[in-house]
Amino acid sequence: MEAYNITVVGGAGIVGREFLKILDERQVPVGRLRLLATSRSAGKRVEFRGATITIEETTEASLTGDDQVVFLSASGAASKQLAPIAAANGSFVIDDSSAFRMDPGVPLVIPEINAEDLEWHRGIVSQPNCTTTPMALALYPIHRVNPLRRIIVSTYQAVAGAGAAAVEGLRSETEAALAGRHQPSGTQKREIAFNAVPQIDLFAEDGYTKEEIKMANETRKILHAPEIAISATCVRIPTFFGHAMTVWAEFERPIGAAEARALMAAFPAITVMDDPATERYPTPMDVAGTDSVLVGRIRSDSSKPGAITFWTLTDSIRKGAAANVIDVLVEADRRGLIRR
Ligand SMILES: NC(=O)c1ccc[n+]([C@@H]2O[C@H](COP(=O)([O-])OP(=O)(O)OC[C@H]3O[C@@H](n4cnc5c(N)ncnc54)[C@H](OP(=O)(O)O)[C@@H]3O)[C@@H](O)[C@H]2O)c1
Repeated sequence: MEAYNITVVGGAGIVGREFLKILDERQVPVGRLRLLATSRSAGKRVEFRGATITIEETTEASLTGDDQVVFLSASGAASKQLAPIAAANGSFVIDDSSAFRMDPGVPLVIPEINAEDLEWHRGIVSQPNCTTTPMALALYPIHRVNPLRRIIVSTYQAVAGAGAAAVEGLRSETEAALAGRHQPSGTQKREIAFNAVPQIDLFAEDGYTKEEIKMANETRKILHAPEIAISATCVRIPTFFGHAMTVWAEFERPIGAAEARALMAAFPAITVMDDPATERYPTPMDVAGTDSVLVGRIRSDSSKPGAITFWTLTDSIRKGAAANVIDVLVEADRRGLIRR
């Protein structure tokens, strides 16, 4: 693979730092690496492959034609401002925010599902929400032989999905609660330690949250299946890493648990951990720090013959974000889509 000049905007964030870790773990060649953030982190030093990189404050002038790859992992507002500038410079932009996900001119890519969508990029490629990725990956091996009709999903999302401050918020709230104090950190819509909060992002007029709407719209876009009916309920729980969800799905033709399990198990992006006889199933602790999508509790729905229900997990900052970005980078390089 080519050693590109890479700039990470949000290089001090939880996803930005994981991105550097995975570059190293997978020995991805890198030319010049620059890390940008706000004035809060500017001046901090980060070690990468024996070199010390000083984080710089982001300005519009920070992005230049020297950047062959720009990874935007800061905020929707930063992406809206900076992605068009970087793309106009000829950089290959991978955007982690929701700013461009539903833009019809921007591919939204999970390489194991729709790598060919990279071919029509016009400078920006968008990265799915961290709950969309595991659900789409778990359902894809069935969907490609028996198209999806309807999905009902409930999530159990770790605080890492809300950034570094939210991880610190759970830690400080837990310490306070164990000392008998309620000390909300303000990083979630309610105190999160020893609690569960059924609101992630803001409410839309129909009563769904934007996180729930993202899951539905993004899944349809990635699977090229605008007709799938999807209803999501997204809940934040007091785990640090590893998003979990229960998925109910109905397909064009009835399917049973055994067939669903076999199709999922044969798909390389998924690891099935499912054996009720030995009480084998995955938990957030099993997926944290890995790039896996784990699936368990696969069963035929007892209330609706022909439908299935299962439990699936991924680490939001790994395959839910940074690891998928690196998968996109490797695939785009393989297809010759990045300026050399
Ligand atoms: N966490 C996840 O699981 C996950 C999954 C998928 C997608 N995402 C998306 O990835 C992005 C980063 O999330 P995160 O969880 O890593 O958040 P985070 O831990 O809060 O880090 C955000 C980083 O972005 C920087 N930043 C914020 N606003 C900026 C601006 N206007 N210009 C330049 N840098 C700016 C921050 O700078 P300072 O260090 O100076 O504060 C920090 O380095 C978000 O768009 C998020 O929606 C996150």
